[in-house]
Amino acid sequence: MAFAYSNSAEYLPRRLGIEEGTSSIFRIAAHSHVKKIVIIGAGFAGVWSALAARRLSKLTERETEIDIVVIAPKPFLVIRPRLYEANASGMTHSVEALFKDSKIEFIPGTVDKINAQDNTVLVRSISGDASTVGYDRLILAAGSSVVRPKSISGIQQHAFDIDSFDSAVKLESHLQNLTSLPSSPARNTVVVCGAGFTGIELATELPKRLPKDLNARIVMVESADQLGPELGPGPRPIITQALNELGIEFKLGSPVTAIDADGVTLASGERIETKTAIWTAGQIPAPRDGLSRLHVGQNLRVSSVGNIFATGDAAYATADTNGHFALMSCQHALPMGRVSGHNAAADLLGESLMPYEQTSYNCCLDLGAWGTVISEGWIREVKLTGDLAKRVKCFINQRLIYPPTDVAEAFTMANPTGPDSDQLFEQILQAVA
Ligand SMILES: Cc1cc2nc3c(=O)[nH]c(=O)nc-3n(C[C@H](O)[C@H](O)[C@H](O)COP(=O)(O)OP(=O)(O)OC[C@H]3O[C@@H](n4cnc5c(N)ncnc54)[C@H](O)[C@@H]3O)c2cc1C
Ligand SMILES: *[C@@H]1O[C@H](CO)[C@@H](O)[C@H](O)[C@H]1NC(C)=O
Ligand SMILES: *[C@@H]1O[C@H](CO)[C@@H](O)[C@H](O)[C@H]1NC(C)=O
Repeated sequence: MAFAYSNSAEYLPRRLGIEEGTSSIFRIAAHSHVKKIVIIGAGFAGVWSALAARRLSKLTERETEIDIVVIAPKPFLVIRPRLYEANASGMTHSVEALFKDSKIEFIPGTVDKINAQDNTVLVRSISGDASTVGYDRLILAAGSSVVRPKSISGIQQHAFDIDSFDSAVKLESHLQNLTSLPSSPARNTVVVCGAGFTGIELATELPKRLPKDLNARIVMVESADQLGPELGPGPRPIITQALNELGIEFKLGSPVTAIDADGVTLASGERIETKTAIWTAGQIPAPRDGLSRLHVGQNLRVSSVGNIFATGDAAYATADTNGHFALMSCQHALPMGRVSGHNAAADLLGESLMPYEQTSYNCCLDLGAWGTVISEGWIREVKLTGDLAKRVKCFINQRLIYPPTDVAEAFTMANPTGPDSDQLFEQILQAVA
């Protein structure tokens, strides 16, 4: 899968306490020859981990020797990259049938705790019952969530976001409800907090999404002095032009200090009246060095704990030999998932493990009705804009990131040595041409 994502927003991997034992002497031995891989999370990384693990066990004709279990609240893949679009309630994809056909067990629930000493996880079901599930290899694929800085008063109660399925659905409902309120500057203004990847995609989509009779004013506020601080200078003139032509205002060097039911206050003291403040940013000045992402080695194994792998947004992994790290993006989560699943199974089957590596990188930023801009490499040189770029983005969002329904096709795609981002880009260009 290709095309990424980079964002000035701060995302934190979901925290799950791992309790490490001091001695492995008392570790309970597995009871049977059937080994179990447990995967926490049914996002892009978790789904592809499960498929890649099953693929290897089938290829080696040892399918019955490995149980594969995925634990997540629901057997749905949330299509997070599309949560800026309208109709958020349609942005899930069931993986129930695919799991069943691939002999992947699904346990609905949330993992509260990992006990690395016992090789168990504590699962809480939707109804609140707790149970314990043992593993031989664990893959942590619990994703990330956007940071809401506590220093901004009112942010917890009053800000919307598009980080999760539920929050995007809530925003959608709120936008539809605005028309039932009497017209006022606060009703007719939407403030997008953050001009990173997510903020720009959302703001440029809003003119299409907002009820026409609002005649809405859309304002983006960003603490940095530049639009898309992490998107590099290359695409910036195009982004600026798109915002201007779509009539979206932006205020740079303008950190948000407070959000309430009727407005957003900036550090300058300026207040923008709005009933719709949408948080897409974070305000942690430290580099995104993944302080709380789990550090993993080349095989995506959590360095300190032999039986545990981390993948997707939850892992801090080297992507190449030039000092680049995997971003919190689908573009990275999919291949990481394939490698972590392959490696967990390989480890149990005595097959060789694969290093995770991703040298090419493309960033595909949607600009609403204006178009799309695609930039290449870590220096983010613009390589495509306009209608063709838009078709590439639609292909990625509407086709590429959805797992196939056919099992054989899914196993083919679960090959951990799939096409790199540049090769994939060429394939997509041919598909949409
Ligand atoms: C608005 C938006 C736009 C984006 N746009 C792009 C884009 O254009 N291109 C791109 O490449 N990327 C984009 N991304 C990033 C991309 O969505 C993420 O990088 C990707 O979803 C990460 O996959 P993941 O599997 O690691 O985590 P997720 O997809 O977040 O999945 C995590 C899974 O873990 C489950 N889970 C969490 N905690 C627990 C627990 N305790 N127990 C059990 N299960 C748990 C969740 O329910 C979920 O199933 C975007 C993200 C957002 C929010
Ligand atoms: C919204 O999503 C639902 C569920 O997928 C779908 O049935 C409906 O047609 C979609 N509506 C629009 C306007 O796209
Ligand atoms: C929108 O209005 C409906 C109907 O009054 C209500 O049930 C819903 O909670 C409202 N949504 C939001 C986000 O306030």
